Amino acid sequence: MRRYIDLIRQTFDFPTEDFSVTDDNLNFHGVPLMEIVEQFGTPVKITYLPKISDSIQKGKRLFNNAMKKYNYQGSYQYCYCTKSSHFEFVIREALKNEIHLETSSGFDIAIIRRLYERNLISKDMFIVCNGFKRELYRQYISDMVNSGFRNCIPVLDNLGELEFYEKKIERPFQVGIRVASDETPRFELYTSRLGIRYNDIINFYKERIQSNPKISLKMLHVFVNQGIDDSAYYWSELSRFVYMYCELKKICPELDTIDIGGGFPVKNSLWFTYDYQYVTEQIIETIQSICQENNVPTPHILTEFGIFTVGESGAIIYSVLDQKLQNDKELWYMIDGSFITQLPDTWGLNKKYIMLPVNHWNVEYQKVNLGGLTCDSMDYYNSEAHRNEVFLPKIRGQEKLYVGFFNTGAYQESIGGYGGIQHCLIPAPRHVVVNRDTQGKFQYSLFAEEQDSETMLNILGYI
Ligand SMILES: Cc1ncc(COP(=O)(O)O)c(C=O)c1O
Repeated sequence: MRRYIDLIRQTFDFPTEDFSVTDDNLNFHGVPLMEIVEQFGTPVKITYLPKISDSIQKGKRLFNNAMKKYNYQGSYQYCYCTKSSHFEFVIREALKNEIHLETSSGFDIAIIRRLYERNLISKDMFIVCNGFKRELYRQYISDMVNSGFRNCIPVLDNLGELEFYEKKIERPFQVGIRVASDETPRFELYTSRLGIRYNDIINFYKERIQSNPKISLKMLHVFVNQGIDDSAYYWSELSRFVYMYCELKKICPELDTIDIGGGFPVKNSLWFTYDYQYVTEQIIETIQSICQENNVPTPHILTEFGIFTVGESGAIIYSVLDQKLQNDKELWYMIDGSFITQLPDTWGLNKKYIMLPVNHWNVEYQKVNLGGLTCDSMDYYNSEAHRNEVFLPKIRGQEKLYVGFFNTGAYQESIGGYGGIQHCLIPAPRHVVVNRDTQGKFQYSLFAEEQDSETMLNILGYI
């Protein structure tokens, strides 16, 4: 008999730094998941807070080490992109690590204000304000700068945005400019809709910023949508951006920072080979060599990692409710949740997560399809990043099988519309936050119960 654990051991180097098995059951970052299932039931989302700090520290180490290696003159600032997870407990944990924040909309600024009221941030912190901004967002940014957040930096997304700040901000202020990157050659459009086109930037600076003593251009920003990877496309976009920085720096002495956006990945399979150190060193070397070639001082570097900061802190566990054999080959394990509503990237982007059983690792396995609760035929999951199949332990008699999806900590709640109306009114799952006490013991706290029908009826007008 080939047990599930044999399959995993033969396919991967297992256990890994994040996953191990004790007896029959899975541990995630050392957390015995069956303990959570037994205490809280399923479906259950989990946030393991210490991983957020670990990831931030890792990111800082990567850049600081690479800068040291190349004797890079300039600092590195880690900025957390709040949109990847807005939860208070997530940002509170991230803020333990001397970071800055990036915002994407007006409501993000409301979060910043709340953090300030709670003494969690100071007015010196960089607040990098991205996005195509409606008036409310622009107003909030202006209010922040007027109230003394001197490093609150609107990153101009289009040529018209500056006028608002010129009128509303009452003191000297800094701005950034987002440069519109070219999309990956596989994409149906050529240039990103976000940011200002390369050809417009120098003239815009000369006409609107250079001559205005109130405004200083502090940073240039680019975000390459497909993420940071070791591809010719990424290196060419980064290089083009650094050339732009050099050209501007020659006429704009106060420009001293580049913001290369987010885009570091997290593990989507136990077979994950991304070489963070190599890629980081290439970034530093690319920036340094282009600046040297242009006789321009190297800039400070800021990143806005979202997925990398919070992805590996998150997991969701489902029960298999039943199995259905729909023809000779297609066996379904029906879960007590939905991919479309709770892991929407699996549906919208065909994104893969690490998927593992939580119990029964010593049981024989079989090929299955995982089915969600909505009526949508696309609510299923049946392939992994490393293989076009899904294997899980067989279910014997009345035994319960639990299945986990891991490294799901980024974007899934905001894209799925956490706490709102969900397809087929499938409720948002309960959410447990896991931390360690000073002795290293796990502490579980229930952040939210499973959504109840009243919240949906209220939204729908059945008050
Ligand atoms: C401007 C900007 N910065 C940072 C990020 C975060 O990217 P990631 O979560 O891939 O690190 C995004 C994501 O869309 C973005 O648009």
